[in-house]
Amino acid sequence: MIMGRRIHIVEVGPRDGLQNDPANLSVAQKLEFIARLEAAGVTRMESGSFVSPKAVPKMADSPAVFAGLVRNARTKHIALALNETGVRRAIEAKADEINFVLVAGETFGRKNQGMSPQESADMLAKCAPLVHEAGLPLSATISVAFGDPYDGDVDIGVVGNLAAQAQRAGIAELALGDTIGAATPWDVRQRIERVRMEAPDVPLRMHFHDTRGAGLANVFAAVQAGVDVIDSSCGGIGGCPFAPGATGNVATEDVVWMLHRAGFDTGIDLERMIETARWLERALDHRVSSALSRAGTFPRV
Ligand code: COA
Ligand code: ZN
Repeated sequence: MIMGRRIHIVEVGPRDGLQNDPANLSVAQKLEFIARLEAAGVTRMESGSFVSPKAVPKMADSPAVFAGLVRNARTKHIALALNETGVRRAIEAKADEINFVLVAGETFGRKNQGMSPQESADMLAKCAPLVHEAGLPLSATISVAFGDPYDGDVDIGVVGNLAAQAQRAGIAELALGDTIGAATPWDVRQRIERVRMEAPDVPLRMHFHDTRGAGLANVFAAVQAGVDVIDSSCGGIGGCPFAPGATGNVATEDVVWMLHRAGFDTGIDLERMIETARWLERALDHRVSSALSRAGTFPRV
């Protein structure tokens, strides 16, 4: 049953998108980007991350971005955190939700966050009570869940084990993150099934990068497998500074167009999202990679 089934889009452009873009947007420009996304119907988005400014200089102004947000009851602003300092800073900044990053690869984990997979799970167990005491929803993303840029294939058992530990930590939602665009639709199905066995109580979200062209096919596989929440970035901007060659997320407007054409509902105004991607090209001073920002929608009326 497709007609009217709601797929929730989590817009990650202001965080995953901007963290690795060559452009340096001002706080005012980031706030304008966020406001335009809201006007296009986004109700949940990663608006910044609370990590070391030395590790990710482009997110150093996240406290100022959160302080400048025009809040409304509709929009949930998610803060990304990878350690206790980050969680405390995100709570202080009045994030509506915290998304914690687990890592499934050894070498990527060391380079990205100075942690092994098990250390990231231990850190989540330590941080979860802080988030729960603050009364905030806590979600988690398993990064490099489909492949590590340095070590290669990631054992599905490691992903399942992290999922089980995340469920025990009391998270409200778990994302499988394909940080480097290594997944194929068949892997997506397999990993979703495995995680559902290991963490049956946790709803799933999927996070795909389109590095090797399988992004939309992976979204299709996830939706077919019953996943209702998809991360995407306006324009398809983004990438991880610690993943060589990694390119942007699946583009919000491309995902939304595909889903709307099939009869799904996303709550996103496609035309306004395309306009926002075109505005973003001017703000970033370079082209963005999404197909719809070039081709426009179809049919035209
Ligand atoms: N926010 C701001 N500063 C932080 C911080 C945070 N969440 N966590 C640690 N720091 C600071 C410490 O105060 C310390 O500062 P100092 O050098 O001035 O004394 C320094 O960072 C090192 O702290 P340490 O606890 O030893 O961390 P680390 O060097 O092992 O790095 C992370 C761990 C997680 C902080 C770091 O790897 C990081 O921020 N990674 C982010 C990667 C990322 O965002 N990737 C993309 C999204 S997945
Ligand atoms: Zn990502």
